[in-house]
Amino acid sequence: MSNNSEKMDKIISLCKRRGFVFPGSEIYGGLANSWDYGPLGHLLKQNIKKAWWKFFVQERADMVSLDSAIIMNPKAWEASGHLQNFSDELVECKKCHHRFRADHLLEADGLEPRGEREPVRSLADVMCPDCGGGLTEPRRFNMMFKTFLGTTEDSSTVAYLRPETAGGMFVNFKNIQQVTRRRLPFGIAQIGKNFRNEITPGNFIFRTREFEIGEFEYFFDPKKQENNKAKNQNEPWQDIFEMWLSEIKRWWKDVMQVNMENLVWHEIPDGERAHYSKRTVDIEYKYPFGVKELHGIAYRTDFDLERHQEVSGQDLQYTDPETNEKFLPHVIEPAFGIDRMLLVCLLEAYHEEAAPTSQDGETETRVVMKFPKHLAPIQVAVLPLSKKEELSKISQPLAAELRQHFSVEYDETQSIGKRYRRQDEIGTPYCVTVDFDTLQDKKATVRDRDTMAQERVAIANVGEFLQEKFKQ
Ligand code: GAP
Repeated sequence: MSNNSEKMDKIISLCKRRGFVFPGSEIYGGLANSWDYGPLGHLLKQNIKKAWWKFFVQERADMVSLDSAIIMNPKAWEASGHLQNFSDELVECKKCHHRFRADHLLEADGLEPRGEREPVRSLADVMCPDCGGGLTEPRRFNMMFKTFLGTTEDSSTVAYLRPETAGGMFVNFKNIQQVTRRRLPFGIAQIGKNFRNEITPGNFIFRTREFEIGEFEYFFDPKKQENNKAKNQNEPWQDIFEMWLSEIKRWWKDVMQVNMENLVWHEIPDGERAHYSKRTVDIEYKYPFGVKELHGIAYRTDFDLERHQEVSGQDLQYTDPETNEKFLPHVIEPAFGIDRMLLVCLLEAYHEEAAPTSQDGETETRVVMKFPKHLAPIQVAVLPLSKKEELSKISQPLAAELRQHFSVEYDETQSIGKRYRRQDEIGTPYCVTVDFDTLQDKKATVRDRDTMAQERVAIANVGEFLQEKFKQ
C-alpha cells in the first residue's frame, strides 16, 4: 500500500471521480474546506446513519428520538456555557498573516498533548509553520456562527447556528419525559447538522465548518445503581459510562467492522476536558494524517439541566415515581461525528490488490472499496454483457425485481472488465451479469467483490440468493 499522504490523495480523487464527495461550489472555484456528498457519498452516509440509529436507538428499549431546531433562543447558549467558553486560541503570523489554532501548533511541535480546546501553555518558541515568522499573542475566538433573526441587525436579534445537537435534547428534556412517561434511565437521541467557525478546517471531511453529529443524552439517577450492580465499588455513573464504552466498542467492531487496532481509547486528563465534563474518553483513529479524534463520550453530570433550569427559571427536575423525590438527572453523552465516521469507513474500505488480467500470468492493480456489505452505497450491479434487446429483455426486469430489496445500479456500457473495475471501486458487493448463455440456461453470473469468485445462479433465484448473501 502506498504511503499515508498518497492514500489520502487517492481516496479524495476516487471520491470525486466516482461521486462520493465533490469540492463544494466547484463551478465557482470552490469554497475552501466545504464538501458536497454526491450520489454515492449520500447513500453511504444514509447507510451509516441508518445503522447508527438501528444500533443505538431502534434496538434499545431505553431510547427516544428528537429532531430539534438548528437556531435556538440565544439564552440556551448562554446557559450551556457556549457563549463564554466555546472558543479556541487563535494566533496570527505577523509576517504572512496566516492564522492558526494555538493548540494545533503546540501539538505539532510536541509541546502539548493531543486534545481539543485546551488552554495554551507556551507558544513562546513556536514560529509560523508557513513562513517562519513570529506569532501574535493568542486571543480567544468564539466558534459559534452568528446570524440575525428578521430584518434588523442589532444585539436584540442576534442568534446562533447550533454548534452541537445536545442543546435541543436538554431544553426538551421535560417535554419528552412527560409525554413519553419514561422512567430513568433513558436516552434522547438525534442526528443533525452543526456549525462551527473552525479556525483551521482541513484534512478533507475531517474538520469542516458544517458537519453532522449523531449523539444522545442518557439521563439517569446519580444515586441509583441499575441491574444489581450495587455490590461493586463503582458509583452509578461509572457503571453506565462503562456500559456505553462497551457498546461503542461493539459498534466499531460488529457494525462498522473496523480494524480495532486502528482505534485509540484516549482518556482525557483532568484540566483538559470540556467545561461541562467530569470524565471524557476520546475514541481516536490512526488517520493517514495522524492519530486524531474520531468521536467521544462524556459524563456531563447535571451541568446542563442545572444551567438551563437556572437561566430559564423553569423547574426541570424529575420526580421519582416510587419515592416522589425530585432531582435533576445526570447525563452521559456518547457523541459521533457522522462525517468522521464516513471518512473512517472510506479509509478502512480502501484496498489495492494485484488481480489477474485476461493475459495469462499478468496482473494489474485492482482498487476495491471493501465496505461492510450493509453499508455499501450500491449493493448489487446488474450488468448485461451487451446492449442487445435479447439480453435487456431479461436484465431489466431482473434489475426491477432486485430494486425491491437492494440499491441497484444498471450498467450496460463499456467492456465487462471495465464495468467490474468500476463496481469494485465503488464497493458494490455483488455484480450480476446476464450473457448470451443466459438465453439458453436461464442463469446469470453472480460475482463476489472480495473474492472475485463467480457463480451461475438461476435467474428466478437471484433475488433470494442475494438476500441470503447479505444475511451472512
Ligand atoms: N455534544 C458533544 C459534542 O458536540 P464534540 O466532541 O465537540 O462533542 C462531537 O463534537 C463530534 O463531532 C466529534 O467527536 C467529532 O466526531 C465531530 N466534529 C467536531 N467538530 C467537527 C468538525 N469541525 N468537522 C467535522 N466533525 C466534527
